[in-house]
Amino acid sequence: MRPLDVQTVSTLVEEATAAPSMHNAQPWSFRFVAAEGLLLLFADLDRAMHRSDPGNRALHIGCGAALFNLRVAAAHAGLAPQVVLLPDPADPLLLAAVQLTEPGAPAADDLRPLYPAIGQRHTSRHPFDEKDIPDDVQAGLRAAAAREGAELLFPGPWHIDTLLELVRDAESRDILDPGGRADLDHWTRIGPEAETATDGVPEYAFGPRPSGGRAPLRDFAGRRAVAEHDSAPFEQNPHLALLSTHTDTPADWLLAGQALERVLLRATLAGLATALTSHALESRELRLLARDPVSGTGHVQMVLRLGYGPPGPATPRRPVRDVLDIA
Ligand SMILES: Cc1cc2nc3c(=O)[nH]c(=O)nc-3n(C[C@H](O)[C@H](O)[C@H](O)COP(=O)(O)O)c2cc1C
Repeated sequence: MRPLDVQTVSTLVEEATAAPSMHNAQPWSFRFVAAEGLLLLFADLDRAMHRSDPGNRALHIGCGAALFNLRVAAAHAGLAPQVVLLPDPADPLLLAAVQLTEPGAPAADDLRPLYPAIGQRHTSRHPFDEKDIPDDVQAGLRAAAAREGAELLFPGPWHIDTLLELVRDAESRDILDPGGRADLDHWTRIGPEAETATDGVPEYAFGPRPSGGRAPLRDFAGRRAVAEHDSAPFEQNPHLALLSTHTDTPADWLLAGQALERVLLRATLAGLATALTSHALESRELRLLARDPVSGTGHVQMVLRLGYGPPGPATPRRPVRDVLDIA
C-alpha cells in the first residue's frame, strides 16, 4: 500500500475535527506516526469541563464522533481504517490508534456514502416543523446506532414528557448554583469574538429564544445581550431520540460518540436537521431517570432532537496545525 503523505493525513484530521463536541470545545489532538502509518487520537484535558462533565464522559463522546469522521474520511480516501480503542491501559488519554495503511484490510464500504454529510452536518437550534419522521427513516437511524454497538430509541409521549421535565430540572439547578453557568460563559463567543474565535459556540449559532413550544434547548445566551437573537415558537411535539449503551465505561463513551456521529451523518443525508441536548445527562440522578421506563436498562449517552427545519450554521474549528503533531 502507498505510504501516506502529510497532506492526506492533514485532510483526514480536518474532516475528523468537523465533528460535534460539547460547547465546541474540540477536546482532541492527533499524532501521526509516519513510519507505522498510525494516527493516534488523544484527549485534550485542557479542554475538559470540570463542572458540567466531571467524569469526561461528554469529552469522550466528542472524541468518538471525531474518530467516526476520521473513519469515514479515510474510507473516502480509499483507505481501510483499523481502529483499536484505548490501546494503552497505562495511558488513558490515548483514546484510539487508527491504522491507516493496513494491507488487505476489509474495505469500509458502508462508511463511504456518509462522506458528503461530514461538511453538511451542523447543529440546528432552530424550530423544526411539526412533521413526523417516516418509519423507514427512523429504522435507518436505529440501524446506524446498532452498527456501532449502541441503541437508538424514539421515546413515546410519556417518556418525552419525563425527558423535558429533566431538562427543566437541570436548568433550575444551574440557575440556583452560582457556578452553574461557568462552563457556558467560558465556551460561548459573543460580540467581535464570535467572528474570530476558533472554538466555542458563537452567538450566531445560538438559535432564537423560544417564545413557545416544548423543545429542550440550552440557554447559551443567558442574561447577556446577543445580536439578532430574536424569539420564535418551537415545536410542541419535538422528535427526540435517546442514544444508549449497555455499559458505561470510557470505551462505551467512545463507542457512543461513533454511533452518535453515524446517526447524525445518516440523518443529515436523509434531509433531517439535528440538535443535541446533554443538559439533563450532566447529573447522575437525572441521567438515571432519563432511561427507557419500560426496559429500565442501558446508560443514556445523548438526547437528540431531530426534525425538518433550517440547517444550523457552520461553526469554527481550530486549524489542523494546532491539533496534529507529526512524529
Ligand atoms: C457530548 C456533547 C454534548 C452536547 N450538548 C449540547 C447541548 O446540551 N445543547 C446544544 O445545543 N448542543 C449540544 N451539543 C452540540 C455542540 O454544541 C456542537 O456540536 C458544537 O457547538 C459544534 O457545532 P456543530 O455541531 O454545529 O458542528 C453537544 C455535543 C456533544 C458532542
